[in-house]
Amino acid sequence: MRPLDARVIERELSRLGASLGRPLAVAAETASTNDDARSAAAAGAPHGAAFLADAQTKGRGRGGRSWHSPPGENLYLSVVLRPRLPATSVAPIALVVGLAVASVVERRLASSARLGAPGGGAVADVRLKWPNDVLVGGRKLAGILVEAQLRGDAVSSVIIGVGLNVHTSRFPPDLSTRATSLAMLGVDDVPREVLAAELLQALGDAAARFEAGRLAPFAEDLARLDWLRDRRVEVAGVSGVAAGIDAEGHLLVRGGDGVLRSVAAGEVSVASG
Ligand code: BTN
Repeated sequence: MRPLDARVIERELSRLGASLGRPLAVAAETASTNDDARSAAAAGAPHGAAFLADAQTKGRGRGGRSWHSPPGENLYLSVVLRPRLPATSVAPIALVVGLAVASVVERRLASSARLGAPGGGAVADVRLKWPNDVLVGGRKLAGILVEAQLRGDAVSSVIIGVGLNVHTSRFPPDLSTRATSLAMLGVDDVPREVLAAELLQALGDAAARFEAGRLAPFAEDLARLDWLRDRRVEVAGVSGVAAGIDAEGHLLVRGGDGVLRSVAAGEVSVASG
């Protein structure tokens, strides 16, 4: 597989007028692009600084899990944001990042369906699993790790890490029934550089809209893409049926007693069947 070419990403970023992605660092291998972005932010990297790698040796996911990061196949991308937000308002940005990634995926799957790519003809069921897993056909296509650094009541920086499965055609056994890639969905003709630039553009737009209007501008998309809705879930000690996402970005769960509870954070397990 051809290594990522920083110049192509830069060219695409300019063509799209993306607000993120400068400066841009592309490594052949790193431990974790989120760690790279975090160290850079601590050393003063500006809003928009982006870090990509062809491979990660310690790719991290939420809840201390590792992120499958083989060389040359997928996108591992982290970006430094410096939103002007109070610390108390920053958490829902994780949802907005998920929507931005989902929008890029939706567009790419739709255009490959239009062009009649093999396997790309099916109507793509792109959904967001609260808080921010991007699923297609119920399988995880992209994972997002958001890490905020606070200074007192203010946000010093937010690191947005995105892992997008692009070319992987076979996952390790523990992921094989739960993960998917763009290639497995019939999209194998889009260079990773182009996808990286599209992600940075969508993330920049979404972050700016979030800063201006918090979750309100995203309410419709959140409802449309909500994969958990009406599924039986257990999260943070609360069990019941998922009943949407509220204006704070909390997951709503209706218990067997009929009471609606709101959950701010946690790992969701979904009952099968
Ligand atoms: C998850 O679904 O648990 C989140 C996965 C996030 C993976 C990305 S890959 C780029 C960035 N660097 C990391 O170490 N993690 C994120």
